[in-house]
Amino acid sequence: MIICRSADELKRMREAGRLVGEVLTELAAHVVPGATTADLDALAEKRIVAAGATPAFKGYHGYPATICASINNEVIHGIPSGRRVLNEGDIISLDVGASLDGYFGDSAITLPVGQVSEGAATLLRVTEESLYKAIECVRPGARVSDIGHAVQRHVEAFGFSVVREFVGHGIGEKMHEEPQVPNYGDPGRGPRLAEGMVLAIEPMVNAGKPAVKVLGDGWTAVTKDGSLAAHFEHTVAVTAGEPWILTARGAAAGARREAADPSAGSGSSRARSRDERARLGVAPHER
Ligand code: MF3
Ligand code: CO
Repeated sequence: MIICRSADELKRMREAGRLVGEVLTELAAHVVPGATTADLDALAEKRIVAAGATPAFKGYHGYPATICASINNEVIHGIPSGRRVLNEGDIISLDVGASLDGYFGDSAITLPVGQVSEGAATLLRVTEESLYKAIECVRPGARVSDIGHAVQRHVEAFGFSVVREFVGHGIGEKMHEEPQVPNYGDPGRGPRLAEGMVLAIEPMVNAGKPAVKVLGDGWTAVTKDGSLAAHFEHTVAVTAGEPWILTARGAAAGARREAADPSAGSGSSRARSRDERARLGVAPHER
């Protein structure tokens, strides 16, 4: 069963999402050569706990840390370590989840460490774009597979590939709820979206072939061919108007909240919010 949340529940989920977004923004400022992924993890945990929230990943099926920090060919679920030092030219995917006041937020970004190759920069840009293409599909009456179709279409047009083994998910009072949200497939399949549903949409994109394998630590998923991988994720609510990006970051997030808050009445147009969306967050290629 897919849960439809009330306007009040969505507001509470926005607070969890806002915190996750703020943590990612703070982490992004610390993504510099010489930092370790354990440094980033400690920062995130401190920030989440200080906000009266709980790290969502720590202890989840035994996962040992607050964030996932996945470097270069690591796709997702990289375990932070004091021995993993960021180097100029690396890319790093940071995934953060927290529960606040009973509700979960989940979001991820991939960032360049200093100056990266043109190919790496393109991978980041296209993966982030694919997330926003997917979010544009989020409206009542659309089908779950429309989301994955939008991701796949965009990513493959650039010669990149979509990871099949991991998918996005419903989210709410648990981190993982129904439905599963694949990043590939034909449109027009699967459950219909309805007002109040909340989805964590998370394209995982490889520069090379789509196959991944999990390392001996039981968590870190890497590309089989050793190619670079990127991961962007937002927690997104279905509303009668614009999709509401609960984990939105940056200056535009406040304005957007008013525009898309379903209890604030509708006065927003899809065309306008596309611009607002483009301004959201710290786009890695614009840093
Ligand atoms: N964003 C990831 C997900 O939705 C993070 C989970 S990491 C885990 O599955 F350790 F908690 F599994
Ligand atoms: Co997720």
